[in-house]
Amino acid sequence: MCGICAGIGSENQIEKVVRGLKKLEYRGYDSCGLAYINETKNLEIVKCVGGTENLENRIDKTDFSNVVIGHTRWATHGTVCEENAHPHISFDGQFAIVHNGIVENFEELKKQVDVQLKSQTDTEVLVNLICKQSGTTLEKICNACQKVVGSFAIALIENGKDEIFFARRGSPLWIAADEKGVFAGSDISVFDKNFKKCFCLEDDEFAVASLKKVEFFEKNCKKIEKKSISVENVDFFDGFSDEQTFMLKEIKEQPIVLRKTCFNLFSSLDDAKICELKKFKKFHFVACGTAYHSCLMGCQFIKKFCKKQCEASVASEFRYADNVLSKNCLYVFVSQSGETADTIASARLVKDAGLSVMCVTNEPYCTLNSLADFVLPTFAGKEMAVASTKAYTAQVFSLLIFALRLGGETIQNTLKDFVQAFDCEFDVDKLCQLVLASQKVFFIGRGQDYVSSLEAALKLKEIAYINCLGMPAGELKHGTLALVDEKSLVVAISTQEKTKKKIESNILEVQARGGKVALISNLEHNVDVDLKLTLPNFEEFLMPIVSIVPLQLLAFEVCQRLGFDPDKPRNLAKSVTVE
Ligand code: G6P
Repeated sequence: MCGICAGIGSENQIEKVVRGLKKLEYRGYDSCGLAYINETKNLEIVKCVGGTENLENRIDKTDFSNVVIGHTRWATHGTVCEENAHPHISFDGQFAIVHNGIVENFEELKKQVDVQLKSQTDTEVLVNLICKQSGTTLEKICNACQKVVGSFAIALIENGKDEIFFARRGSPLWIAADEKGVFAGSDISVFDKNFKKCFCLEDDEFAVASLKKVEFFEKNCKKIEKKSISVENVDFFDGFSDEQTFMLKEIKEQPIVLRKTCFNLFSSLDDAKICELKKFKKFHFVACGTAYHSCLMGCQFIKKFCKKQCEASVASEFRYADNVLSKNCLYVFVSQSGETADTIASARLVKDAGLSVMCVTNEPYCTLNSLADFVLPTFAGKEMAVASTKAYTAQVFSLLIFALRLGGETIQNTLKDFVQAFDCEFDVDKLCQLVLASQKVFFIGRGQDYVSSLEAALKLKEIAYINCLGMPAGELKHGTLALVDEKSLVVAISTQEKTKKKIESNILEVQARGGKVALISNLEHNVDVDLKLTLPNFEEFLMPIVSIVPLQLLAFEVCQRLGFDPDKPRNLAKSVTVE
């Protein structure tokens, strides 16, 4: 995982690279660091544990550099400590490197390089491997990369030189060049707002950037001409001074996101496209984390409105499963970032089998989209908090519109009325108190509410560190009920008439064991509970978008009251770019 950023040019690059790293912290924030060539042409390293705010405190504000590489880390090899933070330098102090990816054969390469290492990282092995090759710096890098098994995007600088070297295999790397210099990063959000053109370094390509230009090379060091890509509609989110947490800001943005989605999706899903997609007899959704929950919800919609077979898989399972792939099936990959390693690998697998790939993504210039036959964009805007909120509702709403269009339903006005009326105002104080007073928390629901219970539990786990479970209500008595006692809270979600009575029975079963119950519903229920949170009433198929909001707010509130940072939960990263 991790994010890399690098800048070379006439202006001071230190601040620019730090700013770029801030935008890449969604890829990890265990530690971060910079390497640069100072004014006396010597290599300097500044690194620290924690996020970029710690790095800023370490940097001497008077320092100036034209050549800077930077890194923000999510630990893969070795613990979170300063020694393991990037950049790493070669044993002779000549080269400094930042790396995103995993060198899988690093133990074997470690023996080959045979130097005393300071860190436990695969990256330090890589920089020493480069250093020990013969030839020019570019040749050294090309030779070393041939020996690597695994994935990498690297930026490397050399003591005394005004140059940055780049290489890539598997991990993304974007490079932009203009009259002021060359700037690069793991995604295009690192570039200046007014930049227009950039290059996407492909696998086994190399680049050498100097103060004025960038040149590209193949793995035999032969120069190649690369075409620049024009980019449009990129959200270069810059609001770091906002006092609110990103998570609360993003929860509150959901009404706008839904309006945008409603407005834009009807045009991206034109009749010709729908007609083309109707030929598929089956759908298979694949994703990770919260996006997987969107897939489960998408399956409910496809079955309901299109009456077609549909299944959903977790990408890390799909990629190694004995899949029976079919040309009659549309494989749909859902991802906020479009950079999740398992989701990309799964899409590649389908693509390599010559089958159809549709991607539902929130970032227009992501790796996943480059594999897609058809892209369904979500319109959530940049999501910064690790826990996904507005991207989730955007995915669910987009998949709902997709299923409705495919199923031939013409309910545009219902959707328009819904997005006008939808808001995010819920008082979750009492629910929060109940959670904090309980030792065990279970979220239960059936059908679409079961999916919401999974998502609610994930939110509470990932930001409030509460060990909880989301599960089908009907499954309680097949084991989990044994855990229920007077210290337990069961949060029941109920938005469907056909399962209303069944949920009531489940609630009584919990209460008979002394468990407390909070009910989240828009329906009239005939059962006494410890707390009822009443939801506004919309069409049943819209309720998953409504019911998840108080549960997002619940996770946020509990997290705040426990004193944790909702935007940067421990051990996690927003974008999981390694297996
Ligand atoms: C991480 C994030 C989740 C996200 C998942 C999939 O686990 O913390 O919020 O749902 O990755 O990410 P993607 O970018 O593919 O949606």
